[in-house]
Amino acid sequence: VVVDKGAHRHFMSKEIAEQPEVVGHTLVRFIDMTSGRVRLPAGGDFDFSGLDRLAISACGTAYYAGLVARYWFEKFARLPVDIDIASEFRYREPPLTPGGLALMISQSGETADTLATLRHCRAQGMKIGAVVNVPTSTIAREADVVFPTVAGVEVGVASTKAFTCQLAVLAALAIKAGRDRKVLSEEDEAKLVASLIELPRLMAETLRLEPQIEKLAQTFSKALDVLYLGRGTSYPIALEGALKLKEISYIHAEGYAAGELKHGPIALVDENVPVVVLAPYDALFEKTASNMQEVAARGGRIVLITDREGAGHAGDTLATIVVPDSYAFVSPLIYAIPVQLLAYHTAVFMGTDVDQPRNLAKSVTVE
Ligand code: G6P
Repeated sequence: VVVDKGAHRHFMSKEIAEQPEVVGHTLVRFIDMTSGRVRLPAGGDFDFSGLDRLAISACGTAYYAGLVARYWFEKFARLPVDIDIASEFRYREPPLTPGGLALMISQSGETADTLATLRHCRAQGMKIGAVVNVPTSTIAREADVVFPTVAGVEVGVASTKAFTCQLAVLAALAIKAGRDRKVLSEEDEAKLVASLIELPRLMAETLRLEPQIEKLAQTFSKALDVLYLGRGTSYPIALEGALKLKEISYIHAEGYAAGELKHGPIALVDENVPVVVLAPYDALFEKTASNMQEVAARGGRIVLITDREGAGHAGDTLATIVVPDSYAFVSPLIYAIPVQLLAYHTAVFMGTDVDQPRNLAKSVTVE
């Protein structure tokens, strides 16, 4: 397959823009549009009802997709999830149940640590599921069940569209698990699926915030450190936002659970450290808002990413980026976009090699 940048300056920009489309392509593989129910693709059927636990392993951005999925599997399917960075999984020597499910998440399907974890779990008698973008990859071939992402070829070293497609697949799997385990009623399932079907449109709307986000690039390019804060499923998106920024702009960035702010990172806050706060107006908003006040009281400059209701409750910010309203369930796929765009435009402003950042590889095939 030949891929080009089309009208875009970088592959990363093209891949960010493609997300509504490829998330849509991915979702149709997992949703029966006529019944509005989750239907796993042929060859990828799996029944979650008999599981005691689910063990997820991945690296980098794929690991953050797994962190989001833990909230979903535990909430909607009451399925306890263990999640590890693949390179650490074996050293923890976790007790594994033969017949249990180990789920690997990987764009390339070739990451050495993830593959080593897969083989370790297989040797312990576990069943292997894989959320994988490259269908011919080693991880896809060695897994028992493949849950494909349909992101298409991803060229930019910093993963973007593969990430949101991984989230789409994991969201569908969590719903399926909730149904299999009789936690979700047919009605609950219909509501959750409806919010997934709406996603491509909401993601397209979110992309229209690009000019506003681009204006922040100059301020961010001068920062030496940036903090990203979030609660609940926004916490892994904060981690992902920080990873994106450091990967391509080389600015030091850290993602933190908003509640951890007072246990350390607040010591860094002054007028030179931008703080990106991801806070949809959900049950957790008020708590995150109080963390924001702690930042503001120390002269910190806040970039708040929120929805319409949240914007109405924002205090003093450097900028408030208002994304479309959505169900809390799907917010990670929406909030991922502004943090990708912020990293991208900061890097472009600084003139770094966005698609091939120094020292990084698209696929890391050594342990
Ligand atoms: C590298 C890439 C990241 C990616 C990670 C995991 O570090 O630069 O963008 O998230 O590997 O790759 P995988 O192919 O397993 O998803």
